[in-house]
Amino acid sequence: MIKHDNVYLTPIELEDIELLNKWKNDEDVYKYLGGGYRPISVSQQRKWMDILVENNLENQRYIILDEDYNKVGFIGLYNISPIHRTCSLGLYIGEKESWGKGIASKAYRALECYAKMYLNIRKINLEVIEKNENAVKMYQKLGFDICGKHKEERFIDGKYEDLLIMEKFIMEDI
Ligand SMILES: CC(C)(COP(=O)(O)OP(=O)(O)OC[C@H]1O[C@@H](n2cnc3c(N)ncnc32)[C@H](O)[C@@H]1OP(=O)(O)O)[C@@H](O)C(=O)NCCC(=O)NCCS
Repeated sequence: MIKHDNVYLTPIELEDIELLNKWKNDEDVYKYLGGGYRPISVSQQRKWMDILVENNLENQRYIILDEDYNKVGFIGLYNISPIHRTCSLGLYIGEKESWGKGIASKAYRALECYAKMYLNIRKINLEVIEKNENAVKMYQKLGFDICGKHKEERFIDGKYEDLLIMEKFIMEDI
């Protein structure tokens, strides 16, 4: 388990299936995420679980626990490249009553620290829908810069939305 500033990151277990399915079926949580809002059954979710529990040198996924060890969200690093030392970030807080308490920021800092100290990553990339202002603000506060934009890239809730590309160098070296 990764511990940092009263937030804990733990690898996903098969028994987390109901929780992950609940979050996946929540429009508010999933509409701005890469996969979009597409409700699925627990049976279908089961097909994804082998991938979700597989933490390896390319993809690492964790459940976020709050200070009372409640499972509240998800964070992951994808496409980790040992050559370029880059990766992509995915993050959400699935329990909406836990929004606005600083948990996502703490979870990100925990994973950034781990990425730096154990994975030797130098830059983290992410994509975020421009209209998802809370998330954009959060990433800017966490030190990410906007480095590009795909116009009208995603169809969400009846409209095409712009997708921002953000990046953060987490190490100063070459
Ligand atoms: C976006 C999300 C991850 C934020 O999680 P969170 O734990 O509430 O975020 P934090 O409490 O750490 O907030 C960090 C900063 O984000 C911004 N922010 C987050 N929620 C906000 C809100 N409701 N209103 C305004 N600003 C907000 C603020 O700048 C905040 O800093 P501040 O509290 O010092 O003002 C969460 O709302 C979520 O999971 N949303 C659905 C999924 C999603 O959009 N994921 C990101 C996609 S790339």
